[in-house]
Amino acid sequence: MPHFVKMATLDELPPGSAKEVEHEGRVYALFNVGGTLSAIDGICPHQGGPLAEGLVEGTMVTCPWHGWQFDLRTGAMPTSARIKQSVYEVKVRVRTSWWPSRDLDGARPRGRGHPPPEMK
Ligand code: FES
Repeated sequence: MPHFVKMATLDELPPGSAKEVEHEGRVYALFNVGGTLSAIDGICPHQGGPLAEGLVEGTMVTCPWHGWQFDLRTGAMPTSARIKQSVYEVKVRVRTSWWPSRDLDGARPRGRGHPPPEMK
C-alpha cells in the first residue's frame, strides 16, 4: 500500500503549472495539466536536469537542459524503451467541514433575505 505525503495544495499548483518538491532527500516534479495532476521523479536521468522546469505539451514534459522527453502518465521516454522515469500515484484530499443544519434546540439557521422570526 503506497504511503502518501502532502506535497502541495491545489492553490500552489494551478492548471498549467509545475512545481518541484523535495521530500526526504528525493526530488519530485508535480504537474497540473488542465486539472490532471501528475508526479514523477523530478531529476532527469540524463544529467540531472530539473524536470519541473521543463516545457509541458500534452502529456509530455521536455527536460530544459538537453530535451529528453517523458510521458507524465507513464514515465516512458518515446525514443528509448530502456529509460523510464518513476511515476507516482497522486491523491487529492479535500477537507470538508460538516455542519449541522439545525442548532442544538432544533432551530434552522436563517436564510439571507428572510427576516428573523421576531420581526414577522
Ligand atoms: S539533463 Fe535532461 S536531457 Fe540532459
